[in-house]
Amino acid sequence: MRASGRLRGELRVGRGEYVGVVGPNGGGKSTLVRLLNGLLVADEGRVRVAGLDPAVEPFEVRKRLGMLFQNPENGLVAPFVEDDVAFGLENLGVAREEMRARVAEAIRAVGLKGYERREPHTLSGGEKQRVALAGVLAGEPEILVLDEPTSMLDGEGRREVLERVHALRGTRTILHVTHHLEEILDADRVLVVNAGRLVADVSPRRLLSDAELLRENRLVLPTVLRLGAGLGMAGPGASCPGPGGARACCGGAHRGAAAAGGGEGAVRVELREVGHVYAPGRPWRWWRSGACRSPSSSERCSRWSAGRAPGRARWCST
Ligand SMILES: Nc1ncnc2c1ncn2[C@@H]1O[C@H](COP(=O)(O)OP(=O)(O)OP(=O)(O)O)[C@@H](O)[C@H]1O
Ligand SMILES: [Mg+2]
Repeated sequence: MRASGRLRGELRVGRGEYVGVVGPNGGGKSTLVRLLNGLLVADEGRVRVAGLDPAVEPFEVRKRLGMLFQNPENGLVAPFVEDDVAFGLENLGVAREEMRARVAEAIRAVGLKGYERREPHTLSGGEKQRVALAGVLAGEPEILVLDEPTSMLDGEGRREVLERVHALRGTRTILHVTHHLEEILDADRVLVVNAGRLVADVSPRRLLSDAELLRENRLVLPTVLRLGAGLGMAGPGASCPGPGGARACCGGAHRGAAAAGGGEGAVRVELREVGHVYAPGRPWRWWRSGACRSPSSSERCSRWSAGRAPGRARWCST
Protein backbone atom coordinates (compact mmCIF):
# COMPACT_ATOMS: atom_id res chain seq x y z
CA MET A 1 0.00 0.00 0.00
CA ARG A 2 2.78 2.42 0.84
CA ALA A 3 4.68 1.39 -2.24
CA SER A 4 1.78 2.34 -4.47
CA GLY A 5 1.51 5.60 -2.51
CA ARG A 6 5.06 6.46 -3.47
CA LEU A 7 4.39 5.49 -7.04
CA ARG A 8 1.68 8.10 -7.23
CA GLY A 9 4.13 10.80 -6.32
CA GLU A 10 4.40 10.55 -2.57
CA LEU A 11 7.30 10.05 -0.27
CA ARG A 12 6.65 8.72 3.19
CA VAL A 13 9.24 7.97 5.80
CA GLY A 14 8.14 5.96 8.78
CA ARG A 15 9.07 6.12 12.43
CA GLY A 16 12.49 4.62 13.05
CA GLU A 17 13.43 4.33 9.37
CA TYR A 18 16.96 5.15 8.26
CA VAL A 19 16.78 6.61 4.77
CA GLY A 20 19.76 7.59 2.62
CA VAL A 21 19.43 10.45 0.13
CA VAL A 22 21.88 10.57 -2.78
CA GLY A 23 22.20 12.23 -6.18
CA PRO A 24 24.40 14.55 -8.18
CA ASN A 25 25.39 18.11 -7.25
CA GLY A 26 22.43 20.41 -7.74
CA GLY A 27 20.02 17.48 -7.80
CA GLY A 28 17.82 18.86 -5.04
CA LYS A 29 18.85 17.01 -1.89
CA SER A 30 19.37 20.12 0.20
CA THR A 31 16.22 21.64 -1.25
CA LEU A 32 14.34 18.59 -0.04
CA VAL A 33 15.67 18.87 3.49
CA ARG A 34 15.13 22.65 3.64
CA LEU A 35 11.50 22.08 2.73
CA LEU A 36 11.22 19.77 5.71
CA ASN A 37 12.20 22.24 8.39
CA GLY A 38 10.53 25.30 6.91
CA LEU A 39 13.73 26.98 5.71
CA LEU A 40 12.01 26.80 2.33
CA VAL A 41 8.28 26.87 1.78
CA ALA A 42 6.73 24.73 -0.94
CA ASP A 43 4.66 26.61 -3.51
CA GLU A 44 2.41 23.66 -4.04
CA GLY A 45 1.78 20.21 -2.69
CA ARG A 46 1.86 18.79 0.78
CA VAL A 47 4.76 18.63 3.21
CA ARG A 48 4.18 17.13 6.63
CA VAL A 49 6.66 16.45 9.39
CA ALA A 50 5.29 14.54 12.37
CA GLY A 51 1.88 15.51 11.03
CA LEU A 52 2.71 19.24 11.02
CA ASP A 53 3.08 21.64 8.11
CA PRO A 54 6.56 23.24 8.37
CA ALA A 55 5.32 26.31 6.50
CA VAL A 56 2.67 26.94 9.13
CA GLU A 57 4.37 25.72 12.29
CA PRO A 58 8.14 25.89 11.66
CA PHE A 59 9.03 26.16 15.34
CA GLU A 60 6.92 23.17 16.33
CA VAL A 61 8.47 21.23 13.46
CA ARG A 62 12.00 22.19 14.52
CA LYS A 63 11.33 20.81 18.00
CA ARG A 64 10.70 17.47 16.34
CA LEU A 65 13.18 17.59 13.47
CA GLY A 66 16.86 18.35 14.08
CA MET A 67 19.22 19.19 11.22
CA LEU A 68 22.95 18.77 10.93
CA PHE A 69 24.69 20.51 8.03
CA GLN A 70 28.03 19.87 6.39
CA ASN A 71 30.12 22.61 7.95
CA PRO A 72 30.35 22.33 11.74
CA GLU A 73 32.04 25.74 11.95
CA ASN A 74 28.79 27.46 11.00
CA GLY A 75 26.91 26.05 13.94
CA LEU A 76 29.39 26.54 16.79
CA VAL A 77 28.82 29.87 18.50
CA ALA A 78 29.48 29.56 22.24
CA PRO A 79 32.80 29.80 24.13
CA PHE A 80 32.67 26.26 25.54
CA VAL A 81 31.42 22.94 24.24
CA GLU A 82 28.74 22.58 26.90
CA ASP A 83 27.37 26.06 26.19
CA ASP A 84 27.22 25.28 22.54
CA VAL A 85 25.29 22.09 23.10
CA ALA A 86 22.90 24.01 25.38
CA PHE A 87 22.45 26.88 22.95
CA GLY A 88 19.35 25.62 21.15
CA LEU A 89 17.69 24.59 24.41
CA GLU A 90 17.67 28.17 25.65
CA ASN A 91 15.66 29.13 22.60
CA LEU A 92 13.26 26.27 23.30
CA GLY A 93 12.75 27.56 26.86
CA VAL A 94 13.91 24.34 28.53
CA ALA A 95 14.25 24.65 32.33
CA ARG A 96 17.80 24.89 33.71
CA GLU A 97 17.89 21.52 35.52
CA GLU A 98 16.53 19.66 32.54
CA MET A 99 18.92 21.54 30.30
CA ARG A 100 21.90 20.33 32.34
CA ALA A 101 20.72 16.74 32.14
CA ARG A 102 20.06 16.89 28.41
CA VAL A 103 23.42 18.51 27.65
CA ALA A 104 25.29 15.88 29.69
CA GLU A 105 23.43 13.06 27.96
CA ALA A 106 23.98 14.50 24.47
CA ILE A 107 27.70 14.99 25.10
CA ARG A 108 27.92 11.42 26.34
CA ALA A 109 25.99 10.12 23.32
CA VAL A 110 28.53 11.59 20.88
CA GLY A 111 31.48 10.30 22.89
CA LEU A 112 32.74 13.69 24.08
CA LYS A 113 32.51 13.28 27.84
CA GLY A 114 35.35 15.29 29.35
CA TYR A 115 35.22 17.89 26.58
CA GLU A 116 32.57 20.06 28.29
CA ARG A 117 34.93 22.98 29.03
CA ARG A 118 36.93 22.75 25.82
CA GLU A 119 36.76 25.74 23.51
CA PRO A 120 35.22 24.63 20.19
CA HIS A 121 37.97 26.24 18.11
CA THR A 122 40.52 23.88 19.72
CA LEU A 123 38.68 20.76 18.48
CA SER A 124 39.32 18.70 15.37
CA GLY A 125 36.79 18.79 12.53
CA GLY A 126 35.31 15.44 13.56
CA GLU A 127 35.03 16.56 17.18
CA LYS A 128 33.38 19.83 16.11
CA GLN A 129 30.85 17.96 14.05
CA ARG A 130 30.13 15.71 17.03
CA VAL A 131 29.57 18.81 19.16
CA ALA A 132 27.13 20.05 16.52
CA LEU A 133 25.43 16.64 16.56
CA ALA A 134 25.21 16.79 20.37
CA GLY A 135 23.51 20.19 20.03
CA VAL A 136 20.93 18.65 17.74
CA LEU A 137 20.43 15.61 19.99
CA ALA A 138 19.99 17.79 23.10
CA GLY A 139 16.80 19.10 21.51
CA GLU A 140 15.58 15.48 21.55
CA PRO A 141 14.19 15.55 18.03
CA GLU A 142 12.39 12.43 16.93
CA ILE A 143 13.60 13.01 13.36
CA LEU A 144 17.20 13.66 12.42
CA VAL A 145 18.14 15.13 9.05
CA LEU A 146 21.82 15.05 8.14
CA ASP A 147 22.89 17.00 5.07
CA GLU A 148 26.35 15.73 4.13
CA PRO A 149 27.50 15.68 7.75
CA THR A 150 30.91 14.21 6.91
CA SER A 151 31.82 16.04 3.72
CA MET A 152 34.35 18.33 5.40
CA LEU A 153 35.98 15.61 7.48
CA ASP A 154 38.92 13.29 6.94
CA GLY A 155 38.60 9.51 7.23
CA GLU A 156 38.94 9.44 10.98
CA GLY A 157 36.50 12.34 11.47
CA ARG A 158 33.98 10.64 9.20
CA ARG A 159 34.29 7.41 11.14
CA GLU A 160 33.76 9.23 14.46
CA VAL A 161 30.60 10.94 13.24
CA LEU A 162 29.18 7.95 11.37
CA GLU A 163 29.65 5.66 14.37
CA ARG A 164 27.55 8.06 16.44
CA VAL A 165 24.91 8.42 13.75
CA HIS A 166 24.62 4.68 13.28
CA ALA A 167 24.31 4.19 17.04
CA LEU A 168 21.11 6.26 16.82
CA ARG A 169 19.47 3.88 14.39
CA GLY A 170 16.06 2.77 15.45
CA THR A 171 15.88 5.43 18.17
CA ARG A 172 15.18 8.17 15.60
CA THR A 173 13.85 8.54 12.10
CA ILE A 174 16.95 9.49 10.09
CA LEU A 175 17.37 11.05 6.66
CA HIS A 176 21.02 11.04 5.67
CA VAL A 177 22.12 13.01 2.62
CA THR A 178 25.52 11.98 1.32
CA HIS A 179 27.73 11.64 -1.74
CA HIS A 180 29.41 8.57 -0.25
CA LEU A 181 27.40 5.46 -0.93
CA GLU A 182 29.40 3.49 1.61
CA GLU A 183 27.83 5.66 4.34
CA ILE A 184 24.32 4.43 3.58
CA LEU A 185 24.92 0.78 2.67
CA ASP A 186 22.88 -0.33 5.64
CA ALA A 187 20.03 2.15 5.19
CA ASP A 188 16.50 0.80 5.02
CA ARG A 189 15.96 2.67 1.75
CA VAL A 190 17.86 5.06 -0.47
CA LEU A 191 16.23 7.96 -2.28
CA VAL A 192 17.94 9.08 -5.48
CA VAL A 193 17.27 12.73 -6.25
CA ASN A 194 18.17 14.28 -9.57
CA ALA A 195 16.94 17.38 -11.39
CA GLY A 196 14.49 18.07 -8.60
CA ARG A 197 12.83 14.72 -8.78
CA LEU A 198 12.79 11.57 -6.80
CA VAL A 199 14.10 9.25 -9.48
CA ALA A 200 14.43 6.13 -7.36
CA ASP A 201 13.41 4.83 -3.96
CA VAL A 202 15.26 1.56 -3.63
CA SER A 203 17.14 -0.70 -1.24
CA PRO A 204 20.89 -0.02 -1.04
CA ARG A 205 21.49 -3.41 -2.57
CA ARG A 206 19.35 -2.68 -5.59
CA LEU A 207 21.00 0.68 -6.07
CA LEU A 208 24.49 -0.79 -5.95
CA SER A 209 23.63 -3.49 -8.45
CA ASP A 210 22.05 -1.12 -10.97
CA ALA A 211 24.90 0.22 -13.10
CA GLU A 212 22.57 2.34 -15.18
CA LEU A 213 20.92 4.00 -12.20
CA LEU A 214 24.35 4.72 -10.73
CA ARG A 215 25.67 6.16 -13.98
CA GLU A 216 22.60 8.28 -14.74
CA ASN A 217 22.86 9.87 -11.34
CA ARG A 218 26.63 10.26 -11.21
CA LEU A 219 26.90 7.87 -8.28
CA VAL A 220 30.17 6.06 -7.72
CA LEU A 221 30.40 2.58 -6.23
CA PRO A 222 32.37 2.39 -2.98
CA THR A 223 36.02 1.54 -3.64
CA VAL A 224 35.86 -1.93 -2.12
CA LEU A 225 32.89 -2.89 -4.27
CA ARG A 226 34.54 -1.42 -7.37
CA LEU A 227 37.66 -3.45 -6.70
CA GLY A 228 35.58 -6.56 -6.05
CA ALA A 229 33.71 -6.09 -9.32
CA GLY A 230 37.00 -5.46 -11.16
CA LEU A 231 38.38 -8.72 -9.78
CA GLY A 232 35.27 -10.56 -10.89
CA MET A 233 34.04 -11.20 -7.36
CA ALA A 234 30.31 -11.37 -6.59
CA GLY A 235 28.90 -7.86 -6.60
CA PRO A 236 26.24 -6.33 -4.39
CA GLY A 237 23.57 -7.88 -6.58
CA ALA A 238 24.57 -11.34 -5.39
CA SER A 239 22.39 -13.07 -2.86
CA CYS A 240 22.50 -11.75 0.69
CA PRO A 241 24.94 -13.34 3.09
CA GLY A 242 24.11 -13.98 6.74
CA PRO A 243 22.78 -11.42 9.21
CA GLY A 244 26.04 -9.46 9.64
CA GLY A 245 26.57 -9.25 5.90
CA ALA A 246 22.97 -8.41 5.25
CA ARG A 247 23.35 -5.23 7.24
CA ALA A 248 26.39 -4.28 5.26
CA CYS A 249 25.14 -4.99 1.78
CA CYS A 250 21.42 -5.37 1.58
CA GLY A 251 19.76 -2.76 3.73
CA GLY A 252 16.42 -3.40 5.34
CA ALA A 253 17.95 -4.80 8.50
CA HIS A 254 16.09 -2.26 10.64
CA ARG A 255 12.79 -1.72 8.92
CA GLY A 256 10.87 1.15 10.46
CA ALA A 257 7.29 0.99 11.64
CA ALA A 258 5.87 2.56 8.48
CA ALA A 259 7.85 0.22 6.29
CA ALA A 260 6.48 -2.64 8.36
CA GLY A 261 2.96 -1.36 7.83
CA GLY A 262 2.44 0.83 10.92
CA GLY A 263 -0.56 3.17 10.97
CA GLU A 264 -0.74 6.78 9.79
CA GLY A 265 0.80 7.96 13.06
CA ALA A 266 3.93 6.07 12.13
CA VAL A 267 4.53 8.28 9.07
CA ARG A 268 6.93 10.96 10.26
CA VAL A 269 7.85 12.65 6.98
CA GLU A 270 5.51 13.00 4.04
CA LEU A 271 5.82 14.86 0.75
CA ARG A 272 3.23 14.80 -1.96
CA GLU A 273 3.36 16.54 -5.35
CA VAL A 274 5.58 19.25 -3.91
CA GLY A 275 6.66 22.16 -6.10
CA HIS A 276 9.15 24.85 -5.20
CA VAL A 277 10.30 27.83 -7.28
CA TYR A 278 13.65 29.42 -6.44
CA ALA A 279 13.67 32.28 -8.91
CA PRO A 280 10.63 34.07 -10.34
CA GLY A 281 10.09 33.04 -13.94
CA ARG A 282 12.41 30.05 -13.55
CA PRO A 283 10.41 27.19 -12.16
CA TRP A 284 12.47 24.68 -10.28
CA ARG A 285 10.27 21.87 -9.29
CA TRP A 286 10.18 19.11 -6.84
CA TRP A 287 8.04 16.14 -7.52
CA ARG A 288 5.96 16.50 -10.58
CA SER A 289 2.75 14.67 -10.69
CA GLY A 290 2.67 12.52 -13.81
CA ALA A 291 6.39 12.96 -14.46
CA CYS A 292 6.83 9.23 -14.20
CA ARG A 293 4.51 6.47 -15.21
CA SER A 294 4.85 3.77 -12.67
CA PRO A 295 5.70 0.21 -13.45
CA SER A 296 4.17 -2.38 -11.20
CA SER A 297 7.41 -4.00 -10.10
CA SER A 298 10.96 -2.87 -9.61
CA GLU A 299 12.08 -5.32 -12.31
CA ARG A 300 9.82 -3.69 -14.86
CA CYS A 301 10.86 -0.32 -13.52
CA SER A 302 14.44 -1.18 -14.24
CA ARG A 303 13.74 -2.09 -17.86
CA TRP A 304 11.26 0.70 -18.36
CA SER A 305 13.69 3.43 -17.43
CA ALA A 306 16.50 2.14 -19.64
CA GLY A 307 17.85 4.76 -21.98
CA ARG A 308 15.95 7.70 -20.54
CA ALA A 309 17.60 10.99 -19.71
CA PRO A 310 18.88 11.40 -16.14
CA GLY A 311 16.13 12.03 -13.66
CA ARG A 312 13.52 11.69 -16.31
CA ALA A 313 11.77 8.52 -15.62
CA ARG A 314 12.50 6.25 -12.78
CA TRP A 315 10.45 5.63 -9.74
CA CYS A 316 10.85 2.32 -7.98
CA SER A 317 9.23 1.28 -4.78
CA THR A 318 11.58 -1.31 -3.40
N1 LIG B 1 18.83 29.92 -2.94
C1 LIG B 1 18.77 29.47 -4.17
N2 LIG B 1 18.42 30.29 -5.20
C2 LIG B 1 18.35 29.84 -6.47
N3 LIG B 1 18.60 28.55 -6.80
C3 LIG B 1 18.96 27.71 -5.83
C4 LIG B 1 19.08 28.11 -4.47
N4 LIG B 1 19.45 27.05 -3.73
C5 LIG B 1 19.57 26.02 -4.59
N5 LIG B 1 19.28 26.42 -5.85
C6 LIG B 1 19.31 25.58 -7.04
O1 LIG B 1 18.48 24.47 -6.84
C7 LIG B 1 19.08 23.30 -7.38
C8 LIG B 1 19.18 22.24 -6.29
O2 LIG B 1 20.10 22.66 -5.32
P1 LIG B 1 20.37 21.83 -4.01
O3 LIG B 1 21.25 22.66 -3.15
O4 LIG B 1 19.10 21.36 -3.45
O5 LIG B 1 21.18 20.57 -4.61
P2 LIG B 1 21.94 19.40 -3.85
O6 LIG B 1 21.41 18.12 -4.40
O7 LIG B 1 21.89 19.59 -2.39
O8 LIG B 1 23.43 19.59 -4.40
P3 LIG B 1 24.84 19.32 -3.66
O9 LIG B 1 25.11 17.85 -3.77
O10 LIG B 1 25.81 20.12 -4.48
O11 LIG B 1 24.75 19.80 -2.23
C9 LIG B 1 20.41 23.73 -7.95
O12 LIG B 1 20.25 23.92 -9.34
C10 LIG B 1 20.71 25.04 -7.27
O13 LIG B 1 21.47 25.90 -8.07
MG1 LIG C 1 23.29 19.97 -0.89
